[in-house]
Formats: sequence, C-alpha cells, structure tokens
Amino acid sequence: MTTRRSFVTQAAGLALASIGARRLWGIAAPGAGTAITVYKSASCGCCAKWVDHLKANGFTPTVHDDEGMDAVKDEMGVPKDVRSCHTALLGRYIVEGHVPASDLRRLLSEKPDVAGLAAPGMPGSSPGMAMPGAAHEPFEVLAFTRDGKSTVFARH
Ligand code: CU
Ligand code: CU
Repeated sequence: MTTRRSFVTQAAGLALASIGARRLWGIAAPGAGTAITVYKSASCGCCAKWVDHLKANGFTPTVHDDEGMDAVKDEMGVPKDVRSCHTALLGRYIVEGHVPASDLRRLLSEKPDVAGLAAPGMPGSSPGMAMPGAAHEPFEVLAFTRDGKSTVFARH
C-alpha cells in the first residue's frame, strides 16, 4: 500500500528526474523558457495577447510598458516600412509586431545574418490579432537588415 508520504517522495523524485532529462536534452524546463524582452504601450490589448502567445509557446517575456514606441523603434533601428505595434529583443535580434513564436524558434536555430523579423502592420490572422473562428487572412513575416532591406522569411 502506498502511503501519502511515499507517494509525495516518489512524485518529487520523478520531477527531479524529468528536470535532469530536460537539461540533458537541452529542452527548457517549464518556467525557464527562452528570454525575450518586449516593449509595448500599456493600453495595447493585442500586444498583451501576443505576450500570452509567447508564454504559451515556451518563451519567458519581460515586458516594459513604454508610451514612446516610435522613439523605441528609432533607437533600435526598426525600418519605418516594417513597423507595427510592439517591439521586442530576442538575443541579438529585433522582433517587430505579431511574429508567430514558430518563426522566432526558426530564427534562433537558423541564425540568419539579419537585424530581425517583422510582421508589418497588424495582420488580421497573426497571433494576438486573430479572432477565433475568423477566416484566415494570409500574411508574411519579413526578415529585415539594419539598412532597411527586407525579404520574406515565412508565409502564413
Ligand atoms: Cu498589435
Ligand atoms: Cu503589439
């Protein structure tokens, strides 16, 4: 018969074993996701939803509310024609707007020589914007360079 005490001990042992395995396989443990720093306006609802999308996909966002987003984008060097609402820093990359988490994962694994990724404007079917049940509106995620050149990184 399993006593409550031995059950708790076993459960703790399992948890430790799974943390060990995650370390071994290079998988981030829950609560220790990929760090990303997000700048957004406090009143931006879609920005907050994009932050939720990141959290649901293994990222650990640090969020700064900033009412001078144009200045933030100027400072970081986000080209004018790819701008959106929020701006984030992921390692050495800039992430502008509602870029899906899957593209961020690909960015981190492929490490292209670009300044960052952008989902210009506010695509209707992007994470944080999409309404449940709405028809899919195709959109592109662009990779941009510091000097403002952009290429298509992903189509959704
Ligand atoms: Cu937005
Ligand atoms: Cu936003």
